[in-house]
Amino acid sequence: MKVAVLPGDGIGPEIVTEAVKILNALEERFEIEQAPIGGAGYEVGGHPLPDATLALASHADAILFGAVGDWKYDRLERELRPEQAILGLRKHLRLFANLRPVICYSELTGASSLKSEIVSGLDILIVRELSGDIYFGQPRGLRDAPDGPFYGSREGFDTMRYAEPEVRRIAHVAFQSAQKRAKRLTSIDKANVLETSQLWRDVITSVACEYPDVELSHLYVDNAAMQLVKAPKTFDVIVTGNMFGDILSDEAAMLTGSIGMLPSASLDANNKGLYEPSHGSAPDIAGKGIANPLATILSVAMMLRYSLGRAEQANRVEDAVKSILAQGYRTMDIATPNCKKVGTQEMGDAVIAALAS
Ligand code: IPM
Ligand code: MG
Repeated sequence: MKVAVLPGDGIGPEIVTEAVKILNALEERFEIEQAPIGGAGYEVGGHPLPDATLALASHADAILFGAVGDWKYDRLERELRPEQAILGLRKHLRLFANLRPVICYSELTGASSLKSEIVSGLDILIVRELSGDIYFGQPRGLRDAPDGPFYGSREGFDTMRYAEPEVRRIAHVAFQSAQKRAKRLTSIDKANVLETSQLWRDVITSVACEYPDVELSHLYVDNAAMQLVKAPKTFDVIVTGNMFGDILSDEAAMLTGSIGMLPSASLDANNKGLYEPSHGSAPDIAGKGIANPLATILSVAMMLRYSLGRAEQANRVEDAVKSILAQGYRTMDIATPNCKKVGTQEMGDAVIAALAS
């Protein structure tokens, strides 16, 4: 099994180093190859997604991705900005299913900005469609407005669009995920306003017939945003489009109080996947050795489960993380009074020690 490792920018290299340590600590050997991406790709190859990096990612069985982005690239034209690397990988590798688990670990309920009874035991899975919608829809661009009340003024435009098969395939991923959990699925759209959402709702509803054991409900995105902070535990699995999923997954992440804990998987039709922490590159703390590596380590667990077919190893890694939390190990972002405060590397070492015990 070949794993492409793309550390990226900011804290990316530090957290990925710890995650690779975990992978290497398992009995089984995986072939690991590393390549630059994001700002780091731009520095060596003049592009955030160098050809060699894309080739490596295309041939690997799974990809471990750190994070990309740094303020110093903000003034580059859009095509050259670090974010294009992750969008390019999603597009080229047809990674259409983004799984974002939102789990509030019992040891960390105090870190949430919500009352602990609202979030304790929280366990949601967000299934975000990742390769369509307004992110990739054509046409898009900048032009002089060809019509309307602002005729002739400079305008920007994007296109929100979804095709039936595109919605159907993500629906199957979501229903099947729900079958493995509490069997409740909430589809989130804006069908009261958008044609794209009406089609989305129709397709999700028709696919539901194939999963009679899953209870399906629909919510408008504005209401869903409200319900997520009002009563987050009413959700089991959420399925939504690319744009709404981007926004709601950040909102949901904050319910747990610790975005440094949340992994994610982006899968293609054959379960080849890209695994990355849900957080960004945090350039403000890069190089200080204080970043939380647990989201990346938990992403390795998802990789073992979904792409490498090693569910047992995945459970071992997740159990090791729970065990070090119970032992009181905390990086700065999740620190509590009387905890064992550690840096990035010590946290990685603690997980390895827990794996061995
Ligand atoms: C995410 C990020 C990306 C997105 C950015 C970096 C392009 O916010 O993975 O949620 O918008 O999808
Ligand atoms: Mg986002």
